[in-house]
Formats: sequence, C-alpha cells, structure tokens
Amino acid sequence: MATQQRNILVVGGGGREHALAWKLAQSPQVARVFVAPGNGGTATEPGVDNVPIAATDLAGLLAFAGERRIDLTVVGPEAPLVAGIVDTFSAAGLRCFGPTQTAARLEGSKAFAKDFMRRHGIPTAQHRTFTDLDDALAYLREVGAPVVVKADGLAAGKGVILAEDFATAETAVRDMLAGQRFGAAGATVVIEAWLRGRELSYIALVDGEHILPLASSQDHKARDDGGRGPNTGGMGAFSPSPLVTPALEQRMLDEVMRPTITGLAADGLPYVGFLYAGLMIGADGAPKVLEYNCRLGDPETQPLLMRLDADLLALIDAAMDGRLHTVSARWRPETALGVVLAAGGYPGGYDKGIALSGPVDRATADVKVFHAGTALHDNQLVSDGGRVLCVTALGADRALARSRAYATLGEISMRGGFYRTDIGGTIAG
Ligand code: AMP
Ligand code: GLY
Repeated sequence: MATQQRNILVVGGGGREHALAWKLAQSPQVARVFVAPGNGGTATEPGVDNVPIAATDLAGLLAFAGERRIDLTVVGPEAPLVAGIVDTFSAAGLRCFGPTQTAARLEGSKAFAKDFMRRHGIPTAQHRTFTDLDDALAYLREVGAPVVVKADGLAAGKGVILAEDFATAETAVRDMLAGQRFGAAGATVVIEAWLRGRELSYIALVDGEHILPLASSQDHKARDDGGRGPNTGGMGAFSPSPLVTPALEQRMLDEVMRPTITGLAADGLPYVGFLYAGLMIGADGAPKVLEYNCRLGDPETQPLLMRLDADLLALIDAAMDGRLHTVSARWRPETALGVVLAAGGYPGGYDKGIALSGPVDRATADVKVFHAGTALHDNQLVSDGGRVLCVTALGADRALARSRAYATLGEISMRGGFYRTDIGGTIAG
C-alpha cells in the first residue's frame, strides 16, 4: 500500500471519463486527478484538473505524465489503447492501466477477434472474413439476408450494418471494400450471421489471469423510445440488470470470459484492463459474443461507478499487480440509472456551442450529473459533442432511480437537446 498520495491521469473526455475521475478523486490514496482532455464537468470537479492534450496524442500524454510525476494512468476510450498507449508508457517505465496494443486488437480488429474466438471455441456468430470484393459478394449470395456486415477496424460505432435485405448488405460490402467509406478500417470486412435474442453486456476487471466481474448493467443503444431509431453509442444505462440471473452470470463467466482470458494468455497476450463482452443471449439461454471492447462501456460506467462501494484505485492496483483474486468489490444495493441528454441531430450531424442551463453540476447523495460533450467557454457551459450529459441517480429500486434522474433532467435546458423518456422502463434496446 502506498504511503504517499498519488497523482492519477485519466485519458479521455466523455461521460465515462468524468465518472472515472470523480470516483478516483474520492480515493484516500489520491492527491490529484488530471483528465486529458476532459470536459466542462471535469473542469470544475473537486480534486480534478483538465489538461489540454488529446486522448490520442500519445507523445503529449507521455511527456505530461513524466513531467508531472503521474503515478498511474487510466485509459478510458479504445483509440489510445489500440494505438498502443500501454506499450508506450510501459517502455518509459510508467504505470498505465489497460491492455497492450496486441491484446487491444480484440476490439481494434473484428477479424482478429473472430479468428481468436474460432481458435479457442468461444461461442459467436458464424462468419467469414474478406478483403476481395468479388469473394465477399459471392459469399453474400451464398448466405443471403438478413446478415451482418462489419468493417474490421475502429469506425466510431458506425462500422456495423445490420442488413435486413440483400441490397443493403451488398451496398455495405461495396462501400467498405470498393468505396473506401470507412478508410483502412473497412479494407477488411467480416460477414456474419444475424443473431437473435436478448443483448447484454458483461464487464469485468482482468489481471491477465483472474477475473473480477463488475455488477451487471444494461444500456439502451437505440436513439428513440421503445428501442426505435438509429443505433447510438448509448442513450442511457442502469445497474443492476434484471436479466442477469446467477445462472446466466455463471454461463457468461464459464463459456465466455474464462476461455477468453485463458485463450489470450495461451496466445502470449495476457490481458490486463477492463474487458467488455457484448453478448447475445439466445432463446436457449446460451451466450454468444457479438463483440469485445477493451474498455468500460459508456454510459454503463456512470451508473456502475455510482454503485461501486469500494476504492476504485485499490481495485485497479490489484489488477495491475496480478492479485485480483485477493480483492472483492462491494456494490451499493440500490439501482443506479443514467439518462443521456443528446444534441439535436445526434447520432448524425449536430451543432456545438449551445448553452446549457439548470442544475448541470448537481452532485447530491442521490444524483450526479456526469458531463460528456461539454466545454466551459468564458465560464459558460456549452455543448461540445453529440452526447452532452448523463444525468445519473440512485434509488431503492429502478422506478425511484428513474424518477430522480428524470426530475433533474427536466430542470436542465439546452436548445434542441433531447433524451429518451423510457430508460430503465423497457427491456428493449
Ligand atoms: P458491435 O460494434 O459489433 O457491437 O455491433 C454494434 C451492435 O450491432 C451490437 O450492439 C448489436 O446490437 C448489433 N450486432 C452486432 N453483431 C450482431 C449480430 N451478429 N447479430 C445481431 N446483432 C448484431
Ligand atoms: N454503451 C456501449 C459501449 O460503450 O460500447
């Protein structure tokens, strides 16, 4: 146990990173939390300072961490992990929490992830990988629609096309392999079977060998009420999830998480960090992997960390030191629920710089407003992204957490801003 208080750097600037910085700043072991680049919420969070360095500027982050004697760097988003921030920091002798560049390929390359799952017998949709347009089209004709077409690389959540009909699938394949629509990320495509069932996330801390599951959570990915409208990064989330029974949790651990961690270790890529498996649970109760993410979910992190009744820094230390089996995480028994306020137009184009008013910094025992795409311009809080805030609340049950989150959201105004009114009220998308 460190006797001196430590300085922490959180990389990223979304709602997940605001929640990470807020939680880490509460640790008795922490002196100061820096967030690069942060947002309008982390700018005024007690114990937290923003640093104007982009999350993908590895050289800038490394220089800052060295100069400011950062003791631990915690990485929020996938892009710096896939770009190799953990390798870069480790080579310089700096502690940085997350998977290495090669292990992060689990998220960075869907073809890599599919091949990995096939080799290790981890359940997932049937698939084939293509770089040649004619081969891909021939396979599409063979399997027909509905079918799922995925760009191999990171495409900001837009690289997955759920094609109900053949024409949509063909257009997606042509856009990726001939049209350069996704650049290098789409130079390889994965074509896979469309799985039916209930979608769930499973998020855990991993130390290379041991797995510490976080509490269960669920997010709503569709833009509109009732699970309708385009796919987004997530319009709201809550924890715990009523869908995760102890029996299902055991299956997810035994059939997906353990074989994933042992498979990676066997391949010489021991995985350290947060690991998020996006799963489809079939009618027979069997989990299949839709995707891996090498990070925490956003917005799942906001309700999860509101429920975490433990020192997050101590848990991260245990993961980095390979002793996760010696610690446990306590979770508050209440439900936590977060609703995203988004800018008009999201997930398509939207304006920035729109003024926000109301209780945008509310932080009580029950309610915390986490910021995502916000910025402080001359002391005025303005929007700076598509997902702007995640208003998160605790309650004895989901209904109470919901009513608290929506009550605060109702007091906040932003021109053109919108939110779903059914977060936590429906099981659908
Ligand atoms: P991904 O980026 O791989 O998570 O895909 C984004 C979303 O597409 C997922 O959250 C699922 O809702 C959906 N999805 C991805 N793959 C499949 C599949 N094989 N079958 C059904 N839905 C899928
Ligand atoms: N909320 C889904 C994700 O973070 O990928």
